[in-house]
Amino acid sequence: MTSTLKAYRAAILHSLADPAEVGVEQSYQYFDDGVLLVDDGRVVEVGAAEQLLPKLGGVEVREYRNALITPGFIDTHIHYPQTGMIASYGEQLLDWLNTYTFPTERQFADKAHAADVAGIFLKELLRNGTTTALVFGTVHKQSVDAFFEAAEKLDLRMIAGKVLMDRNAPDYLTDTPESAYADSKELIERWHGKGRLHYAVTPRFAPTSSPEQLSLAGQLFGEYPDLYMHTHLSENRAEIDWVKALFPERSGYLDVYDHYKLIGQRAVFAHGVHLCDEECQRLAETGSAIAFCPTSNLFLGSGLFDLERLEKHGVRVGLGTDVGGGTSFNQLQSLNEAYKIMQLQGKKLDPFKSLYLATLGGARALYLDHKIGNFDAGKDADFIVLDYDATPLLSYRMQQAKTLAERLFALTILGDDRTVKETFAAGRSVHQRD
Ligand code: GUN
Ligand code: ZN
Repeated sequence: MTSTLKAYRAAILHSLADPAEVGVEQSYQYFDDGVLLVDDGRVVEVGAAEQLLPKLGGVEVREYRNALITPGFIDTHIHYPQTGMIASYGEQLLDWLNTYTFPTERQFADKAHAADVAGIFLKELLRNGTTTALVFGTVHKQSVDAFFEAAEKLDLRMIAGKVLMDRNAPDYLTDTPESAYADSKELIERWHGKGRLHYAVTPRFAPTSSPEQLSLAGQLFGEYPDLYMHTHLSENRAEIDWVKALFPERSGYLDVYDHYKLIGQRAVFAHGVHLCDEECQRLAETGSAIAFCPTSNLFLGSGLFDLERLEKHGVRVGLGTDVGGGTSFNQLQSLNEAYKIMQLQGKKLDPFKSLYLATLGGARALYLDHKIGNFDAGKDADFIVLDYDATPLLSYRMQQAKTLAERLFALTILGDDRTVKETFAAGRSVHQRD
């Protein structure tokens, strides 16, 4: 074995499949005393300590007590420019955009400001155990340069794009169909596929793009392999009525995107709170994905997401924070709110489904499950160490818990940034809590 091999010993848990497809018991692998072997930024092997340790010879073993190693969390929808306006009071989506969001995003015309916020944002993601995110920039191309420059330095797997917005927004925040296309293309050429970075064509949402801009966006989405498309869909009732008024010739909100070829594999739609069966069906058959954003849906009063319905139709679903509409960078907190959203609909959210949503489910939604999402050999060594003793209450609750399911559930309800003891990206420690 080579000299760069490293071993991490703790309880280890990772998803193997969607519990909805294989049943809960077949959906995960757990080692009460496990070892994760990492070399050159990749997973070599995961297994029981008693089996792996004797094979390791002089390899350094990092040991964590009362801790759980899982894959890094995946955030399938977040806005980095909105970091400084998280927790802004009192409005639903459309007023919230006009009152808080647009003035905040204006500041990203200044690249130095964008670089400052990108640094704060990435630090916050890593403090919360998120190692991959699908990220909105602003309309300014320099906002995306600043973001990718910061992510590249940390060797993170990140997806981002410049916002396209040529109408129904302040003049200071609009582009044109042609400039949006040219700027996005320039960013794609510079960043897409560089290291672990990927580009997403990013129309904000149907109301803020003209038909001409959507048409060029669809063209661009088809021009490069493995490119992403990232936008918002059916989040809020007033927003949906507005889309109907702006595009009366289309059969519904999703059909606007469909018409302009902004659908398919690697197309990720945030929210989808108010979808009809036909739209769910269309998302499934095109291989598109939905980002379920629990803290945002509650904070902005958008509605209760019907996870089971999307599951029944076979739609890929990942978990998103949607900061700054969302109220936490922490995916354990997203899962806490997701559980309550299910409760309010008389449904359940199994803790192993929660684990899946925050890790392998997100990877599948992003078509990155050959790279991230669990500890299969050869995948990126993006992983986190969760501390069962992070707070006195968590510690006491963990002592009472008798099963892994109980412990995992309590982690998703009580956990937050304090729970994340250490975060690793491509095998390197990128956040230490203590
Ligand atoms: N729809 C259009 N823009 C936004 C945004 O910035 N946040 C959310 N939550 N929804 C949107
Ligand atoms: Zn959003």
